[in-house]
Amino acid sequence: MPKFPAPPLPKALQPPPKRPSENDVQMTPPEIAAEAGITVVDWIDERTSLSGGIRWTLFRKVPRGINWAYTLGSATMFAFLNQAVTGVFLAMYYDPNVNGGAYESIRNINDNVFLGQTVHAMHKWGASVMIILIFLHMGRVFFFGAYKYPRELTWIIGVVLLILTLVMGFTGYLLPFDQQSYWATIVGVNINGTGPFIGPYLSDFLRAGPEFGATTLSRFYAIHMMLVPGLIAALIGAHLYLVMKLGISAPPWIKAEELPDLRKADV
Ligand code: HEM
Repeated sequence: MPKFPAPPLPKALQPPPKRPSENDVQMTPPEIAAEAGITVVDWIDERTSLSGGIRWTLFRKVPRGINWAYTLGSATMFAFLNQAVTGVFLAMYYDPNVNGGAYESIRNINDNVFLGQTVHAMHKWGASVMIILIFLHMGRVFFFGAYKYPRELTWIIGVVLLILTLVMGFTGYLLPFDQQSYWATIVGVNINGTGPFIGPYLSDFLRAGPEFGATTLSRFYAIHMMLVPGLIAALIGAHLYLVMKLGISAPPWIKAEELPDLRKADV
């Protein structure tokens, strides 16, 4: 009985063309290594679609005429990152105890811990640097009119960031618990108490009890190393999301391009 050839498979069911296997292509080890990198990135991207987000974040148009003053926001952010990283290392050795523990632990960091004095100085000076940079950034935004529509919310989040950054400075100042930080913070808490309506509640909250002491230090430490840094990080995220979504504003001296053709269409 003659055998009839099998009918061709429909296109959708035909197997895809064979991929070149390791036996077909002789790759050198560096080529294999390069492929491995691409494969890992592809593998992650296929599952997360992260590359879209990265493209949205990094490949943005910026207006003509921008200058160094536009880097002040990023500079503030790097000052914050410096505070976060050095702060983590300080927290490994700091002891929030009023009976000499806090003061001694700072002394230990400065005198005994490897690179302790450097990291402590980076944190202490970094705090002032961040405050100077945040004011310069705010000044740039103000004098360039960059707070106007549609960037009002970016400005409002910025104001909250400014207040939180000052709170970091205030709460951090007490932590060494030496004479200067102790008395300066008492003055600061009393000044807070003179504020209208919420002043007395605020100073009660900061003191964390009838006396200025152990509970005050614990409260300042918790605010300084957990509550406010978390808020700042989240708000920087929101701030930068808006910066990326709305785009950077052009400097005020850059005029819109003439569009003679559009003008003609108006008539
Ligand atoms: C932790 C503090 C802050 C960080 C890390 C930060 C970061 C940034 C960055 C990276 C930009 C992009 C453009 C640039 O650098 O100029 C920006 C823009 C902006 N920031 Fe901030 N900022 C902070 C605080 C503030 C404050 C205190 C204000 C105002 C009260 C503010 C208002 C704005 C506005 C309105 C823009 C948009 C400017 C434009 O489109 O030209 N920011 N910020």
